[in-house]
Amino acid sequence: MTIPDIKLADGYSIPQIGLGLWQVKESSDFKNAFSAALKEGYRMFDSAQAYGNEQLLGQAIKESKINRSDLFITTKINVSNFGHKKTILSTKRSLQKLNTEYIDLMLLHFPVSVVRKKSWLALEELKKEGLIKSIGVSNYTIRHLKEMKNYASEKPVINQVELHVFLQQPELIDYCRQENIVVEAYSPLAHGYDMDNQIIKKIASKYSKSYAQIMLRFLIQLNCVVIPKSVSPARIKENIDIFDFELTNEEMKELKSIDRSLRTCWNPTLVP
Ligand SMILES: NC(=O)c1ccc[n+]([C@@H]2O[C@H](COP(=O)([O-])OP(=O)(O)OC[C@H]3O[C@@H](n4cnc5c(N)ncnc54)[C@H](OP(=O)(O)O)[C@@H]3O)[C@@H](O)[C@H]2O)c1
Repeated sequence: MTIPDIKLADGYSIPQIGLGLWQVKESSDFKNAFSAALKEGYRMFDSAQAYGNEQLLGQAIKESKINRSDLFITTKINVSNFGHKKTILSTKRSLQKLNTEYIDLMLLHFPVSVVRKKSWLALEELKKEGLIKSIGVSNYTIRHLKEMKNYASEKPVINQVELHVFLQQPELIDYCRQENIVVEAYSPLAHGYDMDNQIIKKIASKYSKSYAQIMLRFLIQLNCVVIPKSVSPARIKENIDIFDFELTNEEMKELKSIDRSLRTCWNPTLVP
C-alpha cells in the first residue's frame, strides 16, 4: 500500500498517516505496536518528551534494522522544558534517547505563556545545526500563530492540534492553509469517546469500512496528517487501510454537520 506524503513548506515531506504513541509506555506493548505498524506500512511515529517512550522508540528502531532515512520521527518539547537553554538541552537528551543523529520534526508541545518565544528561537537554532529537520508547534490557536510573526524567522511547518469529526476547527484549518502550515490531527478518533454516531455508522456500512476508518478518511480528505494511536495489531492494520475509497462531497458535508466542539484533551484557547 502506498501512503501519500504531504509536502511541508520547508521542502521536506511527511507521511499522511503515522502511529500515535501517547500512553504506549509498556515495553512489550510498544514493541508489538511498533513492529505491527512497520509491517503494515507506517513510517511515521509520533512521540513526545512527555510520553516517556522516546527510549523505547529508539530501541525499537535499532532492533528493526530499518534505515533511519526511511522513517519520520516526531517528538515534542515538554512544557517543563520550555525556555531557551532547556529546549536545547532537552532536545539533545531526546536525540540520545531516540538513538538518532536528527529528529525529523520537533514540535513545541503547547503554547506555554511567556517562554514559548524563547523555545521557538531555540528550535530555529537547532534546525540550523541540523539536529532537527523540520520545526512546528502543537495546540496553537490562530492567535498564537499570528503572534509568531513578531518573532519567528521561520514559520512552523506543522500545527498539531486536536481534530476529529466532533471537533473540526474549520477557522483554524483555513488559517493554516492560507499560511502554508500543515494541520496534523491528534486524537483523530476522539480518543474513542464517541464510537456510536449514526451518520458515521451509515457511511461505514456503505463502504464496508469501520467506524474508525470513516473518522480517519474524513481527515485525510481535508488534507490533514493523522496519527491514530493503537496497541492492537488488528487496529493498527485497520487504521491505515483507508486509501482505497473516497467519501463523496455529500458525505463530507454530512460528516461536517456532526461537529460539536468536543475537546477530549487540552484546551489552549484561553492560554494568553
Ligand atoms: N500534541 C498533543 O498535545 C497531543 C495530545 C493528544 C494526542 N497526541 C498524539 O495523537 C495520538 C493519537 O491521539 P490519542 O491517543 O489521544 O487518541 P486516538 O488516536 O484518537 O484514539 C486512541 C484510542 O482509540 C482506540 N482505537 C484505536 N484504533 C481503533 C479502532 N480502529 N477502532 C476502535 N478503537 C480504536 C485505542 O485503543 P487501542 O490502543 O486499544 O486500540 C485508544 O483507546 C497520540 O497517541 C499522540 O501521539 C498529541
